[in-house]
Parts: sequence; C-alpha cells; structure tokens
Amino acid sequence: MTLSTISSPRPFAYPQPASALHCGEVSLEALAKLHGTPLYVYSADQILERLTLFQQAFANRDHLVCYSIKVNSALAIVKLLTSRGAGVDIVSGGELERVLAAAPEAVGRVVFSGVGKTAAEIDLALTAGILQFNVESAAELELLATRAAKLRKKARFALRVNPDVFAETHPYISTGLREHKFGVDIRQALAIYKSAAGNRWLEAYGVSFHIGSQIRAAEPFGAAMERVSKLLRQLQRAGIALQTVDVGGGLGIDYHAGSFDAAAKVREYAAAVESALGAFEGRLLLEPGRFLVAQAGALLARVLYVKRNGRKTFVITDAAMNDLIRPALYQAYHEIVPVRPRERKPRIVDVVGPICESGDFFAHDRKLPPVEPGDLVAILDAGAYGMAQSSNYNTRLRPAEVLVEGAQTRLIRRRETIADLLAPEVF
Ligand code: LLP
Repeated sequence: MTLSTISSPRPFAYPQPASALHCGEVSLEALAKLHGTPLYVYSADQILERLTLFQQAFANRDHLVCYSIKVNSALAIVKLLTSRGAGVDIVSGGELERVLAAAPEAVGRVVFSGVGKTAAEIDLALTAGILQFNVESAAELELLATRAAKLRKKARFALRVNPDVFAETHPYISTGLREHKFGVDIRQALAIYKSAAGNRWLEAYGVSFHIGSQIRAAEPFGAAMERVSKLLRQLQRAGIALQTVDVGGGLGIDYHAGSFDAAAKVREYAAAVESALGAFEGRLLLEPGRFLVAQAGALLARVLYVKRNGRKTFVITDAAMNDLIRPALYQAYHEIVPVRPRERKPRIVDVVGPICESGDFFAHDRKLPPVEPGDLVAILDAGAYGMAQSSNYNTRLRPAEVLVEGAQTRLIRRRETIADLLAPEVF
C-alpha cells in the first residue's frame, strides 16, 4: 500500500512513509493503545468542513442544513454540528431525545420524518416545539391534528411527497418511487393540503421529499425538485403558500475514493436543486447525512489471525458485522488499509470478523498489503451508518468512539461493558 492510495478528501493519511496512519495530527496506533479496538475514530474538522461546503453552496438562499441524525447519532457529533447552526432531521422520539440531551437550543430547527410516528412521539415533538413534521400519510396528518388539538399546540406540517423519480442506488436505500412505502403520491398532495386548510391546529408549512441515499448523480435531485416545484405552483394557485421546501438527503460519496471532489459535488447538487426550485422565496431545508460524516470516520480493528483455507487467505479482525454491517447488508465496499504498512507484496485476502455467519465480512478477494496478527487495520468511510447500525449480536460489546479535533482527542462514547448489556434482562 502506498501513501497515495488514501486519497483526499479523507482525513486519514500517513504523514511520512514509515509512520502509522493518522487522523489529522493524531496517530491511530496511539488511539488504539489508549482506547483498545474495535474503535470508531472521527475527524471533527472534516465534519465541520463538509457542513460548511453545504452552507456555502446554498449561501444565496435562505436555507437550513438539518443533519440527518440517524446516520451517526453520537451526542458529541450532534452538538458539534448544531453549534455551527445546523438543524436536525429526526425519524423517532428517541432521536428527538438525543437532540434534547445534546443541543436543546436546536429543537426549533428539528424536522421530523418517518412513516410510522406514534402518538407519543408526536406529543413529544409538539411539546418540544420542533420546526416541522414531515407527514407521510393522510392518516398521520389526522393523528397530528388530533394530538395538536389535545395539547393546544399548532402543528407546522410538510407533506412528504413521493415524486416517483428513479435514482440509481442500492434497492434497499432507494425511496422515491411510487412502489416505496415513503411519502404520499404527489398527485394526491394538493387534495390533502386542501383538506387540512380548515383545521386551526394545522399549519401547512412546507413540502418535503427524499428520494434515496448514496445517490451520486445530481440529476435525480433536480428531476424530483421539478415535480415538487410544479406542485408548489398548484398550491399557490389554490391559495396555499408554503414557507419551506425540504429536499431531503441522499447525496452520495465515493467509497472507492479515486478523485472525489467533495466541494464540486456539493456545488453540482446545489445547482441542480436551485435551477429546478426557481423563484421560491421561502426557506430551503436540506437533510444530508452520509455526505457530512461518512468519510470523517474509520473503524479501527486489530488483526487476530491470518489463516489459509485452501486457496483462500482470511484476515480475521476483532471488528465484525455487528460493528459495521454495511458490507453484509448492502454489499457495500469499504476501503481497508493497514495502519502501519509492511514492505512486502500485497496479497488477495478476505477480511472477516469473528461472528458465526458467512455474511460477517468486510471485504472479499481484496488486495491488501501483508498483515500479521497484532497489526491494526482501518476500515475507511465508516462514519455514516456504522456505529448507528451496530448491534450486540453474538453478545459482542459495541466499540468505543473517539472524536479528533486538531491535535486533541476526546472519548465520546466509552466501550460497552458486559454489565451494560445484561442490565435490562431478568431471569
Ligand atoms: N432524510 C431522510 C428522510 C432519510 O430517510 C435519510 C436516510 C436521510 C435524510 C439521509 O440520507 P443521506 O444523506 O445519509 O443519504 N443505511 C444505509 C442508508 C439508509 C438511508 C436511510 N435514510 C446505508 O448504510 O447505506
């Protein structure tokens, strides 16, 4: 592995040819020694850089970047982003509790999406005073009206419409087609807005959509925005003037690195959204997740064994699919690099975890410099949907998490203990 294989814009690099991989100014070897492995390491600097890219790309328009907290819900990261003006996109009462814990002052910048909000979750959000409910069905709007009347709190809502736009991505994370469970058919939206008009507890505040995740091209966002703009014009003719348009998240990154230019990507995305949005004078809401945090994070693991079965070589690490499920669930590619590269020729290996499933792998038939038991490897681009989708499968303790800020590091979540795990159980 040569130094050039870790391409920018990742915050992980080998400062000198013979040195260990660093996150910014901090050595991952030192972090592993201090906190053990598996360990999630995030660069605060890169997370803030990415937020700034978004904020700059939309600087000419009234806008709010609402970080999609499901992507990485670490309280420290929520606090970091909201401290720079970000709002938050939530999909559960639990995520709202995270905002209330980490950044209560940001609650007025929260948008609440999700197809299955319960009455209790709606009550929590109404009481907290969030910015807007992204309502995904006529039945949910009815429930929202009932709860709002009960609590005597006016509910600002946006209908989440399904623009029926195809976006090239993994089928599990595509959401903008009529056959998906999300949102309401855009052709029914006008009627639903009209039906809410007479209700004093509902305020038709915005319109929202989200067509999927890990979408690399800008066109589908533009195409969806076109359709929603048409709806906006219809609404205006009907005397319904909305204050927000929420374009959801979904902008993808390049997991294969190459020559990925993050700033150009955001600008291209902004141009597509802007040109289709036209003269709308309200506030644009954006819900990026992956783009802000994926490349800022790595999962650091230690090699336990290297074993040969016939023609195959397996590198068995102390991290597993319970720590990072993306390869198993979406056949996702994550680049893997040794923390201290060895001089010899690369080998073709499978990188796997200790869990009792063949789906427990990080890479199949991957060219990797030789590693030995005790070596550290970094699984890159793991800041998004990594820890957030982790589990305790095989009664494994979830990793600790560290945030690197310049030369400083902060443990933002300690490693779980067996006591944590067993506490809720009765026998
Ligand atoms: N807004 C809504 C309503 C969403 O459902 C999502 C993601 C986002 C925003 C953020 O999307 P992003 O900017 O991160 O693409 N676990 C999968 C991805 C699931 C996406 C779920 N919704 C993965 O690891 O690829």
